[in-house]
Parts: sequence; structure tokens; C-alpha cells
Amino acid sequence: MRTVEWANGKVRMIDQTLLPSEEKYIDLDTVDDVASAIKTMKVRGAPAIGVTAALGIALAARKSEAASSGELLSEITKTAEILGSTRPTAVNLFWAIDRMLKMAEANKEKTPADLKEILITEATSIQEEDVKRNTRLGEFGAALIEDGDTILTHCNAGALACAGFGTAIGVITAAWNQGKKIHVFVDETRPLLQGARLTAWELHKSGIPMTLITDNMAGHFMQQKRIDKVVVGADRIAANGDTANKIGTYSVAVLAQAHNIPFYVAAPSSTIDLSIPSGDQITIEQRDEKEVTEIQGVRLAPNNTNVANPAFDVTPHQFVDAIITEMGINKPPYDQNLKTAR
Ligand code: MRU
Repeated sequence: MRTVEWANGKVRMIDQTLLPSEEKYIDLDTVDDVASAIKTMKVRGAPAIGVTAALGIALAARKSEAASSGELLSEITKTAEILGSTRPTAVNLFWAIDRMLKMAEANKEKTPADLKEILITEATSIQEEDVKRNTRLGEFGAALIEDGDTILTHCNAGALACAGFGTAIGVITAAWNQGKKIHVFVDETRPLLQGARLTAWELHKSGIPMTLITDNMAGHFMQQKRIDKVVVGADRIAANGDTANKIGTYSVAVLAQAHNIPFYVAAPSSTIDLSIPSGDQITIEQRDEKEVTEIQGVRLAPNNTNVANPAFDVTPHQFVDAIITEMGINKPPYDQNLKTAR
């Protein structure tokens, strides 16, 4: 399955808001539709939104009627602004946009037709590289998983969150493919239920045994010694190893440390942001209150209830036992060791 890809000059993706009830692919033909798909989380997950933004820029280039490459470059720059204002936390989005802009800038002397081809090729390379990176990351991470382990994961850091294969779920899949008999506990992940809707769907498809739990059950199962390891993904990792990931990850990390359970973060190097020294500089996206007051359109809370809905939290590096990337397994001190992880 390809989460998002370039197909016949359009951006094709599986609409994740419809899963698991409906497996529907949509073809997007305008930058506004691509931006809206990221905002409304038809496509979500840090690497996936990076790939989508790159493909969105390729789409803008393909459709451009610019008479010169200079004009095309300024159109691309505007497209980059639109796509860059969709979601603020995952650095992969900005990493991919930046890579596309640098490629456009480096080739601005070429003809518009050549520049278009170059940008389409660059976007599809970003898409293909993501799958290769995650596959490598999975192989490294699988070394941390032992036969018989039960692993807790939060949110969805699977193939759906990337161009393919997944990060945290990539580690789990690689361990499973090596013949390790593992079991996965999946946090449902309120408010948008990425665990229940998406991770459970992926694990079912791959036949990996799993148990779905609500977010507030994790501590209980740790206390009962039913969980051996925690593996999660990341949206942005600061230079000191502080990690932004789906809201609720921090609570899981604190619980894991209290129970002496290893807590691992799995992410491609494009998720590491060495430009920020710590997690304090990470912008946390605040989303619509309806995501909290409703579940799939059904109202749960009284009208006029005051609501907070941060989409991510930051787990301080002291709670992270290892950061797995496609370059290998990084251990503390992260402020030194992450410098070579990109
Ligand atoms: O709001 P989402 O669904 O985009 O959040 C996704 C996560 O927090 C994932 O864990 C993270 O992006 C890593 S995906 C490999």
C-alpha cells in the first residue's frame, strides 16, 4: 500500500479520515486540495505530510503556465508558503518544502519545462527515499526487540504515517518478519483515535497480534508487567533529544520510566531538527475543539464546554532510552550523538 504517491500527474492518497470503514483513494489536482488534505488529516503523520508537501509543489510546477523559470520559481515559493502553513509541529513538512525550494533555486537557469521535470523527479525521490529510510530504520530498531516481547505504541507511526513501511510500526514489522513472536498493545489515542482506527487496521492487515486499549489503561498494564517495551514515532526531535509526538506520548514515557520499561523513539533523520536546542522551541499545534467534544460527529460534552486540544506534547530527552533512525541506534547524550544522526 502506498499512503501517498505521484500518479498520472496528480497527488494520490488514501483518505485516512475514512479508515477503517472505507478504503478510498483520492486524486488531488490543485494545491488548495493538497493543503486542505493535510489540514483535515486525510493524510497525516510527520513523514507522510512531508512527502505530500513535496508532491504538492511538483503539482504546482506541472500545472504552471509560467513563461520563464523565474516566474515558475516565484509560483513555487507561494505554493511553499501555502503548504507550510498547514500544520506547524512536524518538521518533516518544512524539511521537504525546503529541499524542493533548494532544488528549484539551483535549477532556475534551466527552461521552465526542464525545471518542472526536475521538481517532479525530486518529489518522487523524496517519496521513494522515505520508504527506504524507514525500512533501514526498522532493521536497526528490530535489534532492540526480543522474541516474546509485548510492545506498547501510541498513535499511528505506521505505513499510513509515511510514504510506506512506517517508523515505530516499521520496527515492530521488521522484528515480526525476523520471526520474533511479539504482541503489540495499541493506545486508542484520543482525540482522533489514530491508534484504534489506523494502527489496529495496519496490524490486522499484517497479521501481527495486538490488543487495543484506551489511553488511560497503559499504566495498569505496565504495573501488571504485561508491557516490555514502548516504541513511538516523532514529529520533531530537538538537538538535545526532546521529542514532540502525538499528545499523550509524554504520559506514556513517564509511566514507562516509573516501571523501568525501555522507551524508544523511531524516526527518520528528516524528523531531527538540529536548529533548535530543546523541545521548548517546538510549536505545538492547537486543533479544533470539536475533536474533543465529539467523536466522529457525535456530541459528547455539553454545549459551551471550555476545551483545550493540543495535538502534540514534548517528551523530555531524559525519558528517551534510544532514538532509532536509518543511520542506527542513538543513545544519550543526544546533544552529542544526534549531530551525526543526520
Ligand atoms: O496528528 P498526526 O496524526 O499527524 O500525528 C502523528 C504522530 O504523532 C505520529 O506519531 C508521528 O507523526 C510519527 S509518524 C511516523
